[in-house]
Amino acid sequence: MIRTRILTPLISALTSITGAAALVLAGLPATAAPPPSPDERAAAAFEKLPLTPTPPLGWNSWNKFGCDIDEELIRETADAMVASGMADAGYEYVNIDDCWMAPARDADGNLQADPERFPSGIKALADYVHAKGLKLGIYSSAGTATCQHLPASLDHEEADAAKFAEWEVDLLKYDNCNNEGRPALERYTAMAEALLATGRPIVFSICEWGESDPWASFGPELGHLWRTTGDISDNWGSVTSILDQQVGLEAYSGPNAWNDPDMLEVGNGGMTTDEYRSHMALWSVMNAPLIAGNDLRDMDAETLAVLTDPEVLAVNQDWAGVQGHRVADDGDVEVWAKPLADGGVAAVLLNRSDQAGTVSTTAEVLGLDDAPAYAVRDLWDGGVTETRGEIRGSVPAHGSLYVEVTPARPGHADPLVSAEVTTKTGSGTGYLDPGASFEASVTATNHGTTPATELSWDLAVPDGWVAQEVDVPDADALPGGRSLTATWRVTATADAATGLHDLTGSLGYTTELGTVTAVAGHGNVRVAVPPSGTGWLSDLDPVSAHVGWGELGLDESVDGNPITVGGVVYDKGLAAHAASEVVYYLGGQCTRFTADVGVDDEVGDLGSVTFTVLGDGEVLAESGELTGADGAAPLDVDTTGVTELVLRAGDADGSINYDHSTWAAPELTCA
Ligand code: GLA
Repeated sequence: MIRTRILTPLISALTSITGAAALVLAGLPATAAPPPSPDERAAAAFEKLPLTPTPPLGWNSWNKFGCDIDEELIRETADAMVASGMADAGYEYVNIDDCWMAPARDADGNLQADPERFPSGIKALADYVHAKGLKLGIYSSAGTATCQHLPASLDHEEADAAKFAEWEVDLLKYDNCNNEGRPALERYTAMAEALLATGRPIVFSICEWGESDPWASFGPELGHLWRTTGDISDNWGSVTSILDQQVGLEAYSGPNAWNDPDMLEVGNGGMTTDEYRSHMALWSVMNAPLIAGNDLRDMDAETLAVLTDPEVLAVNQDWAGVQGHRVADDGDVEVWAKPLADGGVAAVLLNRSDQAGTVSTTAEVLGLDDAPAYAVRDLWDGGVTETRGEIRGSVPAHGSLYVEVTPARPGHADPLVSAEVTTKTGSGTGYLDPGASFEASVTATNHGTTPATELSWDLAVPDGWVAQEVDVPDADALPGGRSLTATWRVTATADAATGLHDLTGSLGYTTELGTVTAVAGHGNVRVAVPPSGTGWLSDLDPVSAHVGWGELGLDESVDGNPITVGGVVYDKGLAAHAASEVVYYLGGQCTRFTADVGVDDEVGDLGSVTFTVLGDGEVLAESGELTGADGAAPLDVDTTGVTELVLRAGDADGSINYDHSTWAAPELTCA
């Protein structure tokens, strides 16, 4: 069935590369057998083995260990996969990534394991792993060398596949480095055919980084999974950038053919637990292969819990016709939903913002039929509540709710109640002077059909801050479908530090089913002090700084050099690689901002950027497009009355490569 859907694009892709392939083939070494013509190949019945009816679960050495691997690590990882309970949870593949092979092929031209780090050889490792009830994966590249410059399989497909089969390997991750510019279709077809010809069931994991849209061409035909992007790394920006590249790919995946947004980073230490939970929830809902990338021999209970949550894994393994995909996007809040075989929908409600906030969606947006009520099951803790349709909750920065929503009988469970905190500062700007007062409100909403009673309200403020009740409802019930708001006047301490301060509001209540519980919501206020006198922006703390690559450079370039634009070296400046936005609080106290803007000389004539200055959302100055070949452009901006100054460096030519955007000599004149 998949074959007929895929073969047409495969044939047309083959036809379109005929010319290029002919050129490349002309340069093949004389020993290589002439590959079949495109027509012969399309006519050949390539019947991929159905080895991954659900997304594969396992582990891979690369994310944590890179090239620092040996057979002991692989054996200990197999041991740990069993001992930790991961194997019981469904994890199966133990995959050796790059760097297992010796620097040269053996005398017969075969790949061989590195004699020092894998002295017992791959077959012995496979035996060890199989004896534990697990499977062994291995790695090569569809190129002349791996990404780490070791022997790889281009033009050795048959011999190498035969070796992998002889060693009783169960999965091949096939990378894309050093591919000589030869068409991916041809290179990946050769290995798929070679693996099939061995007669051993070997999962084919295509690692072509999504460069030729394999999902829409050869991926589903040849592979069991295919990478959709470049490499993941252990930070939140990497997770969201990969996530953005999955939009629209859901149509292409299915049993034995999975989109692979790359391996997990859960437990590697670069993200918060909330971020790792969101990463795991998103990969789960997208039917991604779940290939752990941490040290299984040494993981804390939290990491293990994230990796092995039974319901989170069950959603990933459930196939009801379409991969989870984005159904709502309002900037900071995204909803990713996946229909389940039992008629429910799994949904990740993601807070992409850097602050705690409210996420919400409805049963309708999730694609569920109209019903008087729905059960909302928290996939992490198994708790079930009931809603008339809205699903709403407060989550930390980069946090998420991961729920399954199913039509249900009204009143079958406790109502879903949400709480959120909003703040109103005197200036109305969201910034607060140290020692100043502001209003904080907690709004609680009962989304269910039965009331919450015995209400008790609370607002937790930072240490030393004072909260005085202004208007706290004395109602003794919050009926289904209704909201109540309690308000406090909060005073910050005179020495409150600049920056964001969290406020947590909560409502305690009792349900008709007798449950005594509470719901909490988060909000925050930003304490800020306006600058005074005349000085350099690079000496001030920004309110926030987002840069497109690397880190915000203070008095040094993106690459850490002295700031230099148009041959002029500047002592002071901000290096904010496009696309970037750096925000400063002026508090209405500053009258003038000047800077020389341009692309740093360190990229030569490359790079292309537009610099924009905004005051309270209005454009105050724009540089026009500047490239590395241009000198600096002076900006002189009247900032009278501006509360918030935003410096934006935007890409001007469709690529942020080399956009080393520099605000040189950024001077601010304040009262
Ligand atoms: C590429 C792949 C990674 C990893 C490394 C190994 O970058 O995309 O997943 O396999 O090579 O060198």
